[in-house]
Amino acid sequence: MGPNFHLLHPHLSPRSRLKPRTPFITMSSSKSRWANDDPEADALVAQRKREKEERRRAKAEKQQQEEQAKAQATQSQSTDAALDVDSGAPPKKRRRLSNEKQQYPLSEVEQQLKPAKSNLLQFPASEWGPCRHVDNFERLNHIEEGSYGWVSRAKEITTSEVVALKKLKLDNSPDGFPVTGLREIQTLLEARHQHVVYLREVVMGNNMDEVYLVMDFLEHDLKTLLDDMREPFLPSEIKTLLSQFISGLDFLHSQWIMHRDLKTSNLLMNNRGELKIADFGMARYYGDPPPKLTQLVVTLWYRSPELLLGAESYGPEIDLWSVGCIFGELITKEPLLQGKNEVDQVSKIFTLTGPPTPQSWPGFRNLPNAKSLRLPPTTGSSSLLPRARFPFITNASLQLLSSLLALNPASRPTAAECLSHPYFREDPRPKLKEVFPTFPSKAGMEKRRRRETPEAPKRGQEAPKLDFASVFGSHAGGDGGEAGAGFTLRLG
Ligand SMILES: Nc1ncnc2c1ncn2[C@@H]1O[C@H](COP(=O)(O)OP(=O)(O)OP(=O)(O)O)[C@@H](O)[C@H]1O
Ligand SMILES: [Mg+2]
Repeated sequence: MGPNFHLLHPHLSPRSRLKPRTPFITMSSSKSRWANDDPEADALVAQRKREKEERRRAKAEKQQQEEQAKAQATQSQSTDAALDVDSGAPPKKRRRLSNEKQQYPLSEVEQQLKPAKSNLLQFPASEWGPCRHVDNFERLNHIEEGSYGWVSRAKEITTSEVVALKKLKLDNSPDGFPVTGLREIQTLLEARHQHVVYLREVVMGNNMDEVYLVMDFLEHDLKTLLDDMREPFLPSEIKTLLSQFISGLDFLHSQWIMHRDLKTSNLLMNNRGELKIADFGMARYYGDPPPKLTQLVVTLWYRSPELLLGAESYGPEIDLWSVGCIFGELITKEPLLQGKNEVDQVSKIFTLTGPPTPQSWPGFRNLPNAKSLRLPPTTGSSSLLPRARFPFITNASLQLLSSLLALNPASRPTAAECLSHPYFREDPRPKLKEVFPTFPSKAGMEKRRRRETPEAPKRGQEAPKLDFASVFGSHAGGDGGEAGAGFTLRLG
């Protein structure tokens, strides 16, 4: 038996609540059996009914008046608050953000306890219990060691169902369970969607630091698949994958969840042509306006220019940049922007997109790392990426890709806007998932070597201070120097 670590068992519809049991008092509507026999009694009953009716009406009127008075009071209070804001004075009360509920949602525990406060009998005790022990699963094979966990394929002993077990790496958490681990669990529990990997439950080993996520097993991740494929996916297949991916992301953003580590190795695919977003180790809730957040997020090759230039507050647009990188990778079968370090990454980005201008990205100069950035004068600007980099894709594909890889985050489409882009409606149509090709599953069979790709950023670490000072016309490259599109960036 493992430690008594209580987490909600997600199998058991965590959101479901028992309806309050109202006392069932029945009032007989049938007449008194004496009523017809005595006219005097009838008159008395009628009189009482009238009086009762009058009392009820008076009470209703009084209630209405009270409600009106209350409504007026609230209105004047909120006008006061608005006036405070306009005048710059602090509002009397903390203003409620539109998304406050989503930004700080009640924990599952709170959700469950809320109704129980008013009526102890309603506590849904049957939905609670200690986490099960990992011994309920038999390990079949190791799949991968990532930065935050060891993932294996396993079988649930009683049902023989095959699942994926991710043992969280909790080493650097001296104060107990790390908040990032809790976030991974919380966001995954919240993100129930057909294109998000399904977290079945959390199980424990013998010690508190042995926490495992039990997920549906999917045969592939897109990175491994692309590495092993001889030819890239067909345009119709890319469209299927991208539409599933973006609809999952649209759902996450609708729940105010930023993923913050989208890359091909975090996109899983099964042999039924279904894609699911995985690895919520970096995910977190965000708000509007976005709070100050850690800059060191998203694996380098998929990291947006605003993050690289040191933006302290950012929003879901960073995920859309990663979508652009992944779209490009699906087209060419190679990661699009393979920087060796942050400076090289910025250089590679500007080489592809052209450097930013005050017109294309107003305010980029104010970003911390942009101050040291000296750029050559731009010669003409196009909102489209160079056609020569993607010679075989349609105009609509190039438009969508270019909009996702817009340097200015405000110019990138939202996930919902992407889904209504003409690209998804033009020929070739997305391939039906039922006829999607299947591939041999490496995850199902063998241990794999860690690939030579950059690692996810280390949680809780500060972003490095970068100096983007450029040296024009000097020898490109050299130690720490990176050549770009007519400009050079180097670390100070
Ligand atoms: N549900 C699953 N089914 C099958 N394979 C999975 C599943 N979840 C993860 N994997 C495999 O394990 C790999 C690592 O998982 P995950 O990304 O969750 O761990 P991580 O430690 O956070 O990774 P990293 O830091 O490298 O991004 C994935 O790239 C995928 O190959
Ligand atoms: Mg991962």
